[in-house]
Amino acid sequence: MIVRPAVIEDADGIYAIEEESFSIPWSMDSIHRDLANTALTMYDVLVRDDGAIKGYAGLWRVVDEGQITNIALAKDCRGEGYGELLLRVLMEAAWEKGCTSIFLEVRVSNTVALGLYRKLGYQTVSVRKKYYDDPVEDAYIMSCKKESYVWTVK
Ligand SMILES: CC(C)(COP(=O)(O)OP(=O)(O)OC[C@H]1O[C@@H](n2cnc3c(N)ncnc32)[C@H](O)[C@@H]1OP(=O)(O)O)[C@@H](O)C(=O)NCCC(=O)NCCS
Repeated sequence: MIVRPAVIEDADGIYAIEEESFSIPWSMDSIHRDLANTALTMYDVLVRDDGAIKGYAGLWRVVDEGQITNIALAKDCRGEGYGELLLRVLMEAAWEKGCTSIFLEVRVSNTVALGLYRKLGYQTVSVRKKYYDDPVEDAYIMSCKKESYVWTVK
């Protein structure tokens, strides 16, 4: 597996991961728009040796603030450290580009994602009531400041 910056040709692979992972996946149009808007967005993909896209993570950048748009892996690749790898690569690139803090939203019941975010230094800053549909659920708004980013090697 490798992690590399996403290109427009990765849109189909990213869409397949979206459909597999979320009850309301992003539309193909939104994915295309984000991949094309490289002045404001950063996307990385996790790619298997045979070229198959097995995961992706994206971020919007506004001056010194990053906003994770989404992160997801194919079901058969979860729990093996690839989500952490993807997120670290994206965050390191965001720090390099001048971000000093990164925000994200996450379902309050998503214990796997919460575990990942807390491990890397994210803290809950607020709760957005009924933010998600299908099923309706609150979101934690979490943020990680560059100086709070946790890098540990096992
Ligand atoms: C969330 C997601 C990206 C995490 O990636 P992953 O490859 O499964 O996670 P990793 O193997 O890299 O694990 C990294 C950390 O996450 C946490 N984690 C992973 N699996 C976990 C589990 N089953 N229960 C609790 N925490 C877990 C742990 O903190 C783990 O660190 P550790 O291995 O040192 O304990 C992935 O599971 C996924 O695609 N889920 C579906 C889509 C989704 O929910 N995206 C997030 C939207 S906000």
